[in-house]
Amino acid sequence: MLDACVFTIFGATGHLSRTKLLPALYRLDKAGRLPEATVILGLGRRDWDNSQWRAEVSKWLEERLGGSLDQEALDHFNQRLHFFSANIGDPDSSMRLRQLLDSGPEFPPNHVYYLSLPPSEYKAAADFLALSGLNQEQGGWRRLVVEKPFGYHLEDAQILDRHLHRNFTEQQIFRIDHYLGKETVQNIFVFRFANLMWEPLWNRNLIDHVQITHSEMAGIEDRADYYETAGALRDMIQSHLMQMLALVAMEPPATMDAESIRDEKVKVLKSIRPIPKAAVHAHAFRAQYTRGRVEGQDVPGYLDEEQVDKQSTTETYAALKLYIDNWRWRNVPFYLRTGKRLAKNSSLIAIRFKHPPQQLFRETQIAAVPPNWLLMGIQPEQCIRIEVQVREPGIGMRARTTQLDASTCYQAGYQLDAYESLLLDVIAGDHAQFLRSDEVEWAWRVVDPIIRTWSVEREFIHTYPAGSWGPEEADRIFEREDQQWRHSF
Ligand code: BG6
Repeated sequence: MLDACVFTIFGATGHLSRTKLLPALYRLDKAGRLPEATVILGLGRRDWDNSQWRAEVSKWLEERLGGSLDQEALDHFNQRLHFFSANIGDPDSSMRLRQLLDSGPEFPPNHVYYLSLPPSEYKAAADFLALSGLNQEQGGWRRLVVEKPFGYHLEDAQILDRHLHRNFTEQQIFRIDHYLGKETVQNIFVFRFANLMWEPLWNRNLIDHVQITHSEMAGIEDRADYYETAGALRDMIQSHLMQMLALVAMEPPATMDAESIRDEKVKVLKSIRPIPKAAVHAHAFRAQYTRGRVEGQDVPGYLDEEQVDKQSTTETYAALKLYIDNWRWRNVPFYLRTGKRLAKNSSLIAIRFKHPPQQLFRETQIAAVPPNWLLMGIQPEQCIRIEVQVREPGIGMRARTTQLDASTCYQAGYQLDAYESLLLDVIAGDHAQFLRSDEVEWAWRVVDPIIRTWSVEREFIHTYPAGSWGPEEADRIFEREDQQWRHSF
């Protein structure tokens, strides 16, 4: 049974709140998963009252959910919505917020504070809450949810962490990475650790390399402000892709509790071979999109996007090669890549096995038989497929590739979105799918040398036309010529 709470969204009118948080809360409410007395409090600078906020939220939900929006569910959800106009730099607003939250039974005693703000405002928001004692667990729990990126680089992340810990304990902090709420990402645990057959294969003896891709057709949308300071490496790789790497590479946890899982992930991140400054170009590649065509539409290049600096060398594409120096993975490359304005929307973990020691068969008369792949599709398709070779029917002994499909079937209707699952975990107080402070720090240690190198190399960046798969030069990070990006499931 979940506790009812006041779920306060800082930055309530921002992109994340509009596109992910409010739709997730609405869907949870519609499915009857939110405790009845739950209040959703939007906090923002605008001078709105509850009815304006409700009207705006209805509009955003309509834009986002269109036909699946249900009027009765929306009316119910609207009753939960309150708005509080505040400037987090203003001490008086903190006191007024405290008064509001203490004002009566309408507001339950447990509080989630969701910082849907630029990372540069996290410290101010935490101080704002502490100023009127809203961090203190008196009469109910207090939980602070922090979005990635947690800081801009290693040192900044350490400073931020120390700052948050002045007023909030580690138990109160939930560092969210919404990829940990995705169905296939959660399935990695079950697929790996509920099946005996993978364990003897899951290591450097049989795995040639691992690829983790996240490609998007969308550009930076209306997020230039944020993206100019982030870039693809911080936006996707340091967080989401590194988390997927940790789940693929980790040892089985002692139990499924939060500390056991996070201990194992930290061990993986700590074992990643540091990239020396001189090797950054051999391990990492960056590029930026120029204008091109996506889904039949002409789209502008990154430098022509609104609010982007014309000289910007912010990367919209990044690819990385990492090695994990432990017994299981030594010398197996992990290739991570992500990009905006690429040819397809696709998130995929692709594990390539080695070739059999002897090539007895041919796929056709000329081509060698391809190796086995394990494909874990995160989106748009949620799937798990194993590519194997079978005999081509007919005359002769030729091989053909086929797929064994272990995909979960979601035809039953309701699919939980990543944010829905994680917001419920916050309300339940379960940290298992949230990042611990040392985990974040170790992930920063991996990318920090690259960030440093790229931040001083501001004269040149490779480019790729929007709608392509990125520049061919990115292939230079592969160890061998027979290693290539896998685009499809
Ligand atoms: C966010 C990034 O964390 O993840 C975005 O900031 C990116 O740039 C998004 O588009 C991708 O998430 P999803 O769930 O749409 O794949």
